[in-house]
Amino acid sequence: MNKDVIIACDFASAEATYEFLDKFKDLDNKPFVKIGMELFYAEGPQIVREIKARGHKIFLDLKLHDIPNTVKKSMAVLSKLDVDIVNCHAAGTKAMMEAALEGLTRPNGTRPLLIAVTQLTSTDQLALDKELLIHETMNEVVMHYAKNAHQAGLDGVVCSPHEAADVHDACGEAFLTVTPGIRFADGDAGDQKRIMTPAAAAAAGSDYIVVGRPITAAEDPVAAYKRCVKEFLG
Ligand code: C5P
Repeated sequence: MNKDVIIACDFASAEATYEFLDKFKDLDNKPFVKIGMELFYAEGPQIVREIKARGHKIFLDLKLHDIPNTVKKSMAVLSKLDVDIVNCHAAGTKAMMEAALEGLTRPNGTRPLLIAVTQLTSTDQLALDKELLIHETMNEVVMHYAKNAHQAGLDGVVCSPHEAADVHDACGEAFLTVTPGIRFADGDAGDQKRIMTPAAAAAAGSDYIVVGRPITAAEDPVAAYKRCVKEFLG
């Protein structure tokens, strides 16, 4: 099992991203990075190719959610970018997730890992119940969507580290849990509510932790990254 720390590169431009990544250029193992919608929409696929060429593994966090045919074709395009992890919304149904997998698989049978978003952490129980008309508890919904993703053949889910153990119990140890909401014990929580330290996330069974501001906003991002790796991987 490949456990790792993924840095969320939540920057608005290529310039800011490269200025940040340049700090890591002397490391033998370049950090695994997450590229989200903001940077991808600002800079296009070239930013992905450039970061890959610099030797980083990439989680392309674009959260696809559309009809199965559109997702399948879009995943085939993303597959050519040679990223390591991509994602889609489990709410798009099992048919959509199966189509995503099919589109992502290259003619030679290889493909990036595909994980699903279960429920966004910005959706609370009230919104689930009153707006989306989903009347189960949040935990039941998250576990059910994780099982759907597993049945559709996906590799894992994005979830809170607090849910990692339950997801593994329901879908097996090999089913990946990719968990944001990570903070150092002496750090600032910011807008994240249900947080865990890297060491606690490791103990809870997280496979990959996604860490943004504790590294990107640190005075010494390389030292913060190394601390994170040490706490998470031991
Ligand atoms: O700066 P911070 O460590 O809070 O960044 C966490 C990253 O993980 C951000 O890119 C955020 O969008 C993402 N994320 C999250 N919670 C989710 C899904 C993604 O914080 N449920």
